[in-house]
Amino acid sequence: MRTKLIVANWKMNFTIVEALKFFAGLRHEFKGVADCEVVVCPPFTALYAFDEAFAETPYKLGAQNMHWEEAGPFTGEVSPNFLKELNVQYVILGHSERRTHFGETDQGVNKKVDAALQKDLIPIVCVGETKEEYEQGAGWTKVESQMKKTLDGQGRGAIEKMVWAYEPIWAIGTGKHATPEHAQKMAEEMRNLLTRSLDGPTAQTMRILYGGSVSGENAESFLHQRDIDGLLVGGASLDPKVFAGIIGAV
Ligand code: PGA
Repeated sequence: MRTKLIVANWKMNFTIVEALKFFAGLRHEFKGVADCEVVVCPPFTALYAFDEAFAETPYKLGAQNMHWEEAGPFTGEVSPNFLKELNVQYVILGHSERRTHFGETDQGVNKKVDAALQKDLIPIVCVGETKEEYEQGAGWTKVESQMKKTLDGQGRGAIEKMVWAYEPIWAIGTGKHATPEHAQKMAEEMRNLLTRSLDGPTAQTMRILYGGSVSGENAESFLHQRDIDGLLVGGASLDPKVFAGIIGAV
């Protein structure tokens, strides 16, 4: 049985004051987090405040990115050590917005995954095809290539700890989510690849999320899919009422 995982990706939204207001609102809407893990990934600037706010609560802290080096001349970057100091447990890596706007490559994501796992941070690796690739029926080819490059050289023990997020780029922030059937098909292919890389029983323990225009209305339809173990939520995670509804859908 895989514990469902609901992840809020706030992207570049919320000051510290706004973030704390959100959390007060979420706790008001939703008292307990039953049968699932909930991770909030605020901007770096709000991590310190959330480390305090999340103490004694079931909510877990995640970051939206990190560098693969521990320290050095990397202006503007954040070290995995800085995240560990703030009790961050998860880190989103290779989000399509980082790949598109900041030139992140599969090779860079590979190094970040390695660094995260060495620090006991659980990487949530995002993969997904563009609209053109989807229309040409090349979605899986793209995702397979991203996964293989991310896995290249990683040890078995490391691979087992990873979380994957299937996020079709055409579905992110567009209001046009993938059909649950398409998302399931891709998640199944992803699990098959993990089975080939590791073995069936281990691949069955690993979590695969869906992300891309998840809403209070469609969350449940994804969670019903056999190979989808949770959701990576952008826009809909910014409203405590809506996000509480998504957690409730588990
Ligand atoms: P969205 O974003 O839910 O706003 O589509 C998802 C994501 O980018 O992770």
